[in-house]
Amino acid sequence: MGSVTHNVVEAEHPEILRAELGRSASASNMPSAVAAGAPLWQNLPPLGVVPSLMLGYAIRREREGSVCSAMQVEAVRSPQPGPDEVIVLVMAAGVNYNGVWAALGRPVSVFDIHRHPFHIPGSDASGVVWQVGANVRRWKVGDEVIIHGNMTCGQCGPCNGFDPMACEQHRVCGYETPYGSFAQFMVVQVQQLLRKPPQLSWEEAASYGVGCFTAYRMLDRAHVRPGDTVLIWGASGGLGCFAIQIAKLRGAIPIAIVSSDEKAELARSLGAELVIDRSAFPGLAFCPGETAADKKRRFEATREFARAIGDGLGHTSGRFPGVDVVFEHIGQETFPASVFLANRMGRIVICGATTGFELTFDVRHLWMRQKSIIGAHGSNAEESQRANELVAHGKIKPVLTNVYPFAECPQAHDSMLSNRKKGTIACLVSAPKTGLMNLAGTRGAFSPG
Ligand SMILES: NC(=O)c1ccc[n+]([C@@H]2O[C@H](COP(=O)([O-])OP(=O)(O)OC[C@H]3O[C@@H](n4cnc5c(N)ncnc54)[C@H](OP(=O)(O)O)[C@@H]3O)[C@@H](O)[C@H]2O)c1
Ligand SMILES: [Zn+2]
Repeated sequence: MGSVTHNVVEAEHPEILRAELGRSASASNMPSAVAAGAPLWQNLPPLGVVPSLMLGYAIRREREGSVCSAMQVEAVRSPQPGPDEVIVLVMAAGVNYNGVWAALGRPVSVFDIHRHPFHIPGSDASGVVWQVGANVRRWKVGDEVIIHGNMTCGQCGPCNGFDPMACEQHRVCGYETPYGSFAQFMVVQVQQLLRKPPQLSWEEAASYGVGCFTAYRMLDRAHVRPGDTVLIWGASGGLGCFAIQIAKLRGAIPIAIVSSDEKAELARSLGAELVIDRSAFPGLAFCPGETAADKKRRFEATREFARAIGDGLGHTSGRFPGVDVVFEHIGQETFPASVFLANRMGRIVICGATTGFELTFDVRHLWMRQKSIIGAHGSNAEESQRANELVAHGKIKPVLTNVYPFAECPQAHDSMLSNRKKGTIACLVSAPKTGLMNLAGTRGAFSPG
């Protein structure tokens, strides 16, 4: 695979904007009109035609800090495909934490990673292959696709025999690269393409990739076997709702941790065999700088939490041995409990740290009981394809709970940051309304009658 092409400059001139975006209205106001709710397209361009300017949500270094002010609609140069890349016309984009972290500028600024002047967030997309690079054979213009978000070099040893996720040049598309899915077009490597399940709408198809494929790899790396108990933090969230379903498919016993009745109901409907509301255990979270008394309280809350799990699983003797696998992405607040809750030889698999990156735990629990901590990140093309086929065959369902219009992409990200949402959420990009499933139907939706 070649590297991503970045020969892009900003569009500063209204007259160029007008010509390129093909609108007669005051094109200099186009980005603000779109941000205020005007449609992104009047009509889709012909297949293969990519105007040299496009509209998308851009983050700039000076705007980092707050999700809603960081993401603003701008006109920027459209990406061009390298030899092993394609341009996808984005119909819908899935909301995940990559966009949130990019907008906040923490824990790192994306501009220190890719050094591009702007950043279009978004690592999940559904859409149509609009242009293909010179070496592309497996896909063609007009194919309806979704993507997985992992870019690799295709040339190193790990890419050719071990695992592309060990690629020296691995990057998360739309986070470590500047062209994400919250724009009319995005550029991806051909190995990132996956078939769009035909029965899903654009917004459903855009909603599950990062959560589902990452959860698939995490449970694979934790070697989840039939009969394993799997404790899933944030079980109604973007990762958790797929972890429940995949654990279940593997014959394991998903234990869902949630924080409200509504989220509990969702977790149960997805197949959780035990659901625990963490808000009933107020002392459970680790907070930096805790006193000896806080620590004692936390340990008591953790034991109480463990007892609730043991009781729920029917361990009447009161001697709950712990769970086989802990599915972690919460980080600082839950990690000490996660290490404690894993049983002898148990595995704690972790891919994120929403509440803080510096983790603490009592290492005696780890060594005396021979537990393992396993890092996981993204998913390679093969894992993504397998998980996507499970979705295409209806064995895993997307859990789309809210769809936002393009004008409300920042609000969609904000609802994630403030933990107001459950399941997954997506935004319409080029699709003019919800419920559309293919290119023909989408073109039809632009032309009345
Ligand atoms: N490395 C990777 O490849 C990768 C991929 C995807 C995601 N991630 C990371 O994983 C994390 C979660 O992503 P997501 O898409 O699942 O987010 P999400 O949809 O917002 O779900 C996160 C869940 O975490 C739970 N939670 C929030 N604060 C908590 C706390 N203080 N204690 C316990 N639970 C808490 C919430 O559930 P309740 O309130 O119901 O408990 C929420 O549903 C993010 O940090 C993200 O960056 C990493
Ligand atoms: Zn490589």
